[in-house]
Amino acid sequence: MPARFKTIIEPFRIKTVEPIRHTTRTERIAAIQNAGYNLFQLKAQDVLIDLLTDSGTGAMSSRQWAGMMMGDESYAGARSFYKFEATVREITSFKHIIPTHQGRAAERILFGSALKPGDIIPNNTHFDTTRANIEYRQAIGLDIPIPEAHHPQLHHPFKGNIDLAALEKTLHEQGDKVPMVMITITNNSGGGQPVSMANIRSASEICHRYNVPFFLDACRFAENAWFIKIREEGYADKTPLAIAQEMFSYADGCTMSAKKDGMVNIGGFLAMNDDDLARRCRNMEILGEGFPTYGGLAGYDLEAMAVGLYEALEEDYLCYRIRSVAYVGERMKAAGIPFVEPTGGHAVYIDAKTMLPHIPWNEYPAWALSLALYIEGGIRSVEIGSVMFGRQPDGSEKAAAMELVRLAFPRRVYTQSHVDYLAEVLEYVNIRRDHIRGVKIVEEPSVLRHFTARFAPAHGDIILPE
Ligand code: F0G
Repeated sequence: MPARFKTIIEPFRIKTVEPIRHTTRTERIAAIQNAGYNLFQLKAQDVLIDLLTDSGTGAMSSRQWAGMMMGDESYAGARSFYKFEATVREITSFKHIIPTHQGRAAERILFGSALKPGDIIPNNTHFDTTRANIEYRQAIGLDIPIPEAHHPQLHHPFKGNIDLAALEKTLHEQGDKVPMVMITITNNSGGGQPVSMANIRSASEICHRYNVPFFLDACRFAENAWFIKIREEGYADKTPLAIAQEMFSYADGCTMSAKKDGMVNIGGFLAMNDDDLARRCRNMEILGEGFPTYGGLAGYDLEAMAVGLYEALEEDYLCYRIRSVAYVGERMKAAGIPFVEPTGGHAVYIDAKTMLPHIPWNEYPAWALSLALYIEGGIRSVEIGSVMFGRQPDGSEKAAAMELVRLAFPRRVYTQSHVDYLAEVLEYVNIRRDHIRGVKIVEEPSVLRHFTARFAPAHGDIILPE
């Protein structure tokens, strides 16, 4: 990076473009009404800037596309598998590498092979598919992030850390029920916050003292490595690859959604050192995903991952990525918009509970705010609040701990002007925040209601007057 100039640029130029479409406010109101006031039900073509997720939504590089032409589609033992395996092994050093079609398939195979009813799996915070796969096995997902994680505006360089004292206590008191411990890097459900190397190392030491395997949910391992490089003492001169290698060296295995830091539109893997567990996992892989050298993927997908995993570790890329997320945070801070601080790796999380105190939790403030961002600016985000988490297994409703709106950034897709436009929309909606009205649910399924529930304005017939 030339030190003379301060502008951090997108470290790529654009070879293929995909038009995005402006709509009018009136068109967007019609679209969202048709969608039952649910952003998941919109047609993507009616969205201008889509920040619903950073998963599988990134742009692949010319090197990845070129790699795909080299895909070996042999059913068993394809060349592409060995290339993919060599890449994952260089980064993680794990002995057994099992490709899967995405992250949750790795979770299903791992938990299906290792859990029994009543087991407890501690984590900093389980992602919702991880928790669902654990609960499906009648086991318990235990979230034990450090206490700082619960306070949106509180600063901590590694707010994704696991609470080591709580981990030790769990293992001491109930170690016989704990078949494995996990740490999610970065902690998506906790605001995309990183985990320090010291925390990973100590968690690993504690687990191994109790003879419990230690796994990483490694979806955003490269972003986590970058935060370690810039925030943790002793790592400034190390490459992201070397940092990633050290992180994985403390673990006994990992699950991975390559739709994030694998830089692909589909793909993932499960990896581990234990021979017996790997044998059981491969048997389960064959039942659902396919033969263990392709795991639900085409040979060309394995090629794309083999290239993408290295590209995610490039310094120019990580610098640009983390900086563009931090920039949105700075613009929000200047505008007085409350959010989870500091900004994480892949997303910003607006604190709608603080921003919209006039909307009670059961009129879903974060949901209403996400609708306002769409109506005013054509921006699609996702609610992480009482719609997503409010419905209890016994059918009752209770407020979620936080009411957040996540704006997740696809990798290598949007440029600085897209981000400036987003900041402008956020500033405008913030000025009009007192006029935003809540919503009510008019129709909902019994599980995972946020995907398909239909809503209506709770008062009158509008969310935000013109
Ligand atoms: N673990 C974490 C931390 C995740 O963020 C995700 C997916 C998964 C596991 C599951 O991976 O989608 O490939 O099956 N997160 C996406 C998101 C969906 O929007 O945050 P998957």
